[in-house]
Amino acid sequence: MFRRIWHYIYTSLLRSWLKWLLRKTTGTCELQRICSGYKPGAMMTTKAEYSLQSSKNKVLRLALETNKENVEKQVDEIMKEKEIKPHSDHLFKANLHICLLQITGYNRLYFRVEDLRKEVFNSDNPKHEAMLLKLWDLLMPTVKLESRITKQWGDIGFQGDDPKTDFRGMGLLGLINLLFFSENYTAESRQVLSHANHPKLGYSYAIVGINLTEMAYSLLKSGALKPHFYNSVPGSPELKDFHQFYCYLAYEFDKFWVAEEPESIMHFNQYREKFHNMVKTHLQDPNVSLTLTVACN
Ligand SMILES: *[C@@H]1O[C@H](CO)[C@@H](O)[C@H](O)[C@H]1NC(C)=O
Ligand SMILES: *[C@@H]1O[C@H](CO)[C@@H](O)[C@H](O)[C@H]1NC(C)=O
Ligand SMILES: *[C@@H]1O[C@H](CO)[C@@H](O)[C@H](O)[C@H]1NC(C)=O
Repeated sequence: MFRRIWHYIYTSLLRSWLKWLLRKTTGTCELQRICSGYKPGAMMTTKAEYSLQSSKNKVLRLALETNKENVEKQVDEIMKEKEIKPHSDHLFKANLHICLLQITGYNRLYFRVEDLRKEVFNSDNPKHEAMLLKLWDLLMPTVKLESRITKQWGDIGFQGDDPKTDFRGMGLLGLINLLFFSENYTAESRQVLSHANHPKLGYSYAIVGINLTEMAYSLLKSGALKPHFYNSVPGSPELKDFHQFYCYLAYEFDKFWVAEEPESIMHFNQYREKFHNMVKTHLQDPNVSLTLTVACN
């Protein structure tokens, strides 16, 4: 206990003293050194986020809660507050702008993803039904669905004869991710499905896909995806960027599964955990960018 308190006092005193010293010797504030000293990306934005969060200045702390339309204004206010002249530091303004878009965009993205997760798949909603049928057509272009309620759904890895029950937990988010992968990476998704339908090494394509949606969602929620988005989206991350990350997981999990050759789907937990840990390790690299890149042919 005492050591923790001492550590806290020591680090906060040391931090403010260092900030003061640097300000005196270089004539710049911490935020300015960060935004002018790094290239846009996780290194810069993570440091800026920490600096803004722990600032004693209300203008700086409140900038973290701004919405997209007001980012420009917040940048100007911070510059006024910190007495930074635009002509004396060109990089600062542009980089702080990117940092604020990324930091506030990440939080907004979480709420949008959460809304989709909470939206229940509803058979009475024609839009939901159309998405489901489109998923079938994209994955099974040569097989017609005999009826809406059918055992055929098992061929793309749903559990029962009506997929709607499988969306529990991840709601519409699970379906949208599956569809985004099939629509935007059609060849890859069919390849993954063919692996999933392997008689010995197979797994349930849709069920595992929904499970990977949960992985993507929990990584977003915990903040673990920040470095990935800060490096790969030079502005506010949007829903499509989240779906893109899901595509990476779906494709890479399949590669991992095929390489590991698990004895059976009964070992899913254990391999999911191993894969999850690999992804979390990648996400600790400040240069991380986990995007699905496919060879053009
Ligand atoms: C495929 O990607 C494009 C561009 O990112 C996006 O607009 C579209 O909605 C995606 N398809 C689906 C089904 O989400
Ligand atoms: C995903 O799989 C893990 C491990 O089997 C399980 O604990 C979790 O509840 C699953 N999540 C969903 C949404 O199916
Ligand atoms: C990240 O990338 C930069 C620039 O390419 C490089 O200098 C740095 O060493 C890399 N950091 C890590 C931890 O790999």
